[in-house]
Amino acid sequence: MRLTRRELVRSALGASLAAALPAGFFSACSGSSKAAGAVSSAFGASSAVRQAPLSSEIAFPRNFFWGTATAAYQIEGAWKEDGKGESIWDRFSHAPGTIKNGDTGDAACDSYHRWRDDIALMRAMNLNSYRFSISWPRIQPSGTGSANSNGIDYYGRLVDALLEAKIRPFVTLYHWDLPQALEDAGGWPNRDTASRFSDYVEIAARALGDRVTDWMLFNEPSVFTFSGYLEGVHAPGHQSLLDFLRATHVVNLAQGAGFRALKAARPQARVGTAFNMSACEPATDSEADKLAAERAHAITNVWFLEPALQGRYPAAFTYLPETVMRIASGDMEKVRAPLDFIGINLYNRTIASSPSTLKRIAHVQDWLFPVTMTSSGGEQGPKTDIGWEVWPQALYDLVTRITRDYNRPVIEITESGCAYNDGPDASGEIRDTRRIEYHRHYLAALAHAIADGADVRSYHAWSLLDNFEWAEGLSQRFGLAYVDFKTQQRTIKDSGRWYAKVAAENLLRVGPI
Ligand code: FCB
Repeated sequence: MRLTRRELVRSALGASLAAALPAGFFSACSGSSKAAGAVSSAFGASSAVRQAPLSSEIAFPRNFFWGTATAAYQIEGAWKEDGKGESIWDRFSHAPGTIKNGDTGDAACDSYHRWRDDIALMRAMNLNSYRFSISWPRIQPSGTGSANSNGIDYYGRLVDALLEAKIRPFVTLYHWDLPQALEDAGGWPNRDTASRFSDYVEIAARALGDRVTDWMLFNEPSVFTFSGYLEGVHAPGHQSLLDFLRATHVVNLAQGAGFRALKAARPQARVGTAFNMSACEPATDSEADKLAAERAHAITNVWFLEPALQGRYPAAFTYLPETVMRIASGDMEKVRAPLDFIGINLYNRTIASSPSTLKRIAHVQDWLFPVTMTSSGGEQGPKTDIGWEVWPQALYDLVTRITRDYNRPVIEITESGCAYNDGPDASGEIRDTRRIEYHRHYLAALAHAIADGADVRSYHAWSLLDNFEWAEGLSQRFGLAYVDFKTQQRTIKDSGRWYAKVAAENLLRVGPI
């Protein structure tokens, strides 16, 4: 889930900000953020992709990785097998009223037992990259101390089988399932969690780094801090502005520490993070809305990237709440992590506008973060079944902006995809034409960004399988393969067959399907 999926910061910050800020907050803040410069041409009414004449065949770069992405809690099941510890998602999903229809990830897609079937699906789809995550509590049941060898063995077998199938293991170290014991000790707002994370990273790197070279430290840091600590709709379900702000800083410290731990253990490793990103567009051409869009970009897209690459926080707030965030002296060196690639998860765009002057004067929260943001895109494009707007241009705009702003970094598209809940027809086939259209258009936009100079190495469709979609439970199907959750039978959808052809040919055909 992404930050922009929500009625974002204005309402959430608004609810808790005034109460949460300690006395003396404003005098403690520093670093006025003037407008973050002119709004780039990536914003606004650019329609480069839609206007570009689409040739009927678009070749992708040689050695391009075609993959799918999953996450441990969303597919593995086996939530308490072989010595695995409890995670915050186990605890959260077992609490009544947290997940749609009372679903849990206890069984999910049972990939812990059926991973061979899942590799067979990837082979059938001609894929050469698999982004999956390691469950931290499978490796360290309580988040500290020595490794659980059963957990290590499970991932070792998976990695070996992927390599044998000529599929790159592309490993996320943290996709939201913190060991519950660490949450009990204060969770991500607790500074100590950064050190626990780097210990865990070192264990994983030593155990698997002889075979895995490409790693992501985090999946969507702004989503799990925001949804988990401020909004409360994800584990661990807190609603505290202070916890949220502190958690973001501790995660940035953990990103720096984890990066150094991984490189120390495996100097050849390629290390990145999968950031949730969205093209942030101003609602109108007014200067105020353009500035709001820049602030939206800062909080949504680069709050965890800018510290890593530049050792500073971007200009999201009118003042950086340093004291509130407990930024200690020397921290902005510790958060640095010269990532080898930038992972981008992108589903749609964000429309940002500035609240009225009256509102900004009347409400402290509107003054501190003067932005109103849409939660699931704009209103012009078609909507997927989960309600997110389909807007391929967002991928072009965002990728070209990151390329420009960060000196043409290596980019991996670590997720993009759509929820369409099509099931089997009378003959057992899943005719998910809308999913084919989604990926086809997003891939065309990506190809256009590559043609315009972006260094993009991969595309990972979210997801290989229909799976447990966090607070939405099993109700939203994102897979290229259909899962019957009663029998756990997997069936490749039409989209999976289409994607297999694209991957085999390294070529996108933009004519009729
Ligand atoms: C992303 C998450 C992923 C999945 C997709 C639909 O934000 O990273 O786990 O939920 O959304």
